[in-house]
Amino acid sequence: MERPIAGDDSATTGSRVDVDTHELAALLEALSRYGRDADGALYRPVYSPAWCEAQRFLAQRMAAAGLAVHTDAAGNLFGRLDPAPILSTPTARSPLPSSRPPPTPHPQSAPSGVVLAGSHLDTVKHGGPLDGAYGVCAALLAVAGLRRAHGPPRRPLEVVAICEEEGSRFHANFWGSRAITGAIQPGEAESLHDADGTTMADAMRAAGLDAARLPEAERSDLACFLEAHVEQGPILEESGVPLGVVEAITGLQHLLVTVEGRQDHAGTTPMDRRHDALVGAAEMVLAIEAAAHQQGAPAVATVGRLECFPGATNIVPGRARFTIDVRHTNGATLARLAAQIRESCAATAARRGLAVHLQPLAAQPPVRMDAGLVALLERCARARGWPSRRMASGAGHDAQLLARRCPAVMLFVPSRGGRSHTPEEYSDPQHLARGATLLADALFALAYALPLVHS
Ligand code: HGY
Ligand code: MN
Ligand code: MN
Repeated sequence: MERPIAGDDSATTGSRVDVDTHELAALLEALSRYGRDADGALYRPVYSPAWCEAQRFLAQRMAAAGLAVHTDAAGNLFGRLDPAPILSTPTARSPLPSSRPPPTPHPQSAPSGVVLAGSHLDTVKHGGPLDGAYGVCAALLAVAGLRRAHGPPRRPLEVVAICEEEGSRFHANFWGSRAITGAIQPGEAESLHDADGTTMADAMRAAGLDAARLPEAERSDLACFLEAHVEQGPILEESGVPLGVVEAITGLQHLLVTVEGRQDHAGTTPMDRRHDALVGAAEMVLAIEAAAHQQGAPAVATVGRLECFPGATNIVPGRARFTIDVRHTNGATLARLAAQIRESCAATAARRGLAVHLQPLAAQPPVRMDAGLVALLERCARARGWPSRRMASGAGHDAQLLARRCPAVMLFVPSRGGRSHTPEEYSDPQHLARGATLLADALFALAYALPLVHS
């Protein structure tokens, strides 16, 4: 597949759009009301009532911004800005920056491919107001500003609220971007279920969607994808640079570990005769942490959920179940670390007379962002006189799935204290607006000033 690049140094990057700090803060605040609980934490799982209300709210705001709104078969919400029809004389085209004479119209139709910008609408459990939501709101206000300042684009421009990324209700990370890139397996929606036993397909049906139509969500018309996101880590804040341009996104593996021991009486079973599944799991958890420390940064490994059965005070647990999230920006190192963790769990089980089963839940390879788009974001920042720095992302993002389908890039803004996936998630409103304005400049260069140049 030809990999278009985003113009060259002569590209006009100044959109003359400045996303307003207060308007963005108000939109984020309004969106955060959907799924917010009494202590201010957010939980907006895919296809839930809060998610449906948030979707309706965003659809209204997209329509009010003059975008054509549609939802795909997975529930991804799009707001589209189409080019004006190409007429015979250049003067009929939308006004272009006065520094350039109106271009002669392309003999053929406008450059092909949709410029797509956005992020995900769902949240983690007990999460914050910016993860995902910021990228959606930044894209919406950036495109609304471009439409007001420049009218129709030269190539279609779309804002997307991707339906699900976190895997917080169904362990199906990246559900929305996998639908867009055709990476949902047949039958997957029927096999996935949440803690209440509701299948993904049932939840879709309750939200007015038909899982049988998921293949219709696949797109092959995308020219590129840009995602603005809060960094969720400490690098930008500690380096004092308010803009990050992401070069690579970490790879990850998620596993579900089931440890089978023997359920016994807590009072009458001598310590040397036990097959305690929870103690075995605890030893495995400590070994997983040690393996990540031993590998060294940027390796990380996390056990985020641990349950034991039957979970009574006076019963030796017969079964324990926990999740593993292991990541690295190098694919081979990630594979080696995951193998080491598997071997360590098996050795602990053998030593303790337990059985252990590791079920893969998700696996995403590390992905490099498009070099042309990375350079474009840096050019746009320079044109504004804003410092930026290149960096990798330790968090997973929809851009790493979209990158399989089209050139993709991310821009980061600082997270206070590097915190995210917590209600304490916060970013300076000025930084949020600056990131959205940079996004507007990049979208201007891609959809108005200069078509993608095929390499
Ligand atoms: O887990 C992640 O990195 C992302 O927030 N889903
Ligand atoms: Mn997240
Ligand atoms: Mn996210």
